[in-house]
Amino acid sequence: MTKKIAPSLLAADFANLQREVEMVNQSEAGWLHLDIMDGVFVPNISFGMPVVKAIARHAKKILDVHLMIIDPDRYIKTFAELCASFLTVHYEACHHLHRTIQAIKSEGMQAGVALNPHTPVQLLENIIEEIDLVCVMSVNPGFGGQSFIENTYRKVADLRELIEQKNAKALIEIDGGVSATNAKKLIDAGANVLVAGSFVFGSDDPSATIQNLKKEIA
Ligand code: DX5
Ligand code: ZN
Repeated sequence: MTKKIAPSLLAADFANLQREVEMVNQSEAGWLHLDIMDGVFVPNISFGMPVVKAIARHAKKILDVHLMIIDPDRYIKTFAELCASFLTVHYEACHHLHRTIQAIKSEGMQAGVALNPHTPVQLLENIIEEIDLVCVMSVNPGFGGQSFIENTYRKVADLRELIEQKNAKALIEIDGGVSATNAKKLIDAGANVLVAGSFVFGSDDPSATIQNLKKEIA
């Protein structure tokens, strides 16, 4: 089973982005998670295309781009050009999710769908086979450093059941409030990829913290 740690650069030192990206390159992280916020879908603005372009110049890990924006279809091509491997859109931001997923895949990227804490996993029943990744939000999107929502374990277990029922191949990613306290429990519930922002970048030794998380889920 795929098990990865994806540090979220949202919690990194933006004045030293190259250094932070190099740290992730050298670490045991599998992916690098990039959070794009538009100030409309979520009440915060993070960073945009020029910054992603600069990050992509240095990043050696798989780029996992999480779009917290309305009307994400407008930018699918742009993120393909910026070397995103996974492009994740929010269920709540898409009127025609099936079309959006096909558009992401036709640009050669893996298609992800993120679910807000209030959105039931059962809503993916008729589309799960088309999806490469489901990002289960374990906080309300928009900010790093929030507390983990405990109901996530049940959602992950339900989603794992749905994926198996349908014989689908979607990876399950958890985003928000991930730490050494919940990492193993999340993997045991059926998760594959753990995004960690403040737990990694807020620690004294981020590289060692990634290594510890990796050990937790091994
Ligand atoms: C929140 C973002 C997360 C965020 C996680 O909206 O999608 O990726 O960086 O941060 P932590 O790990 O600090 O909760
Ligand atoms: Zn995210």
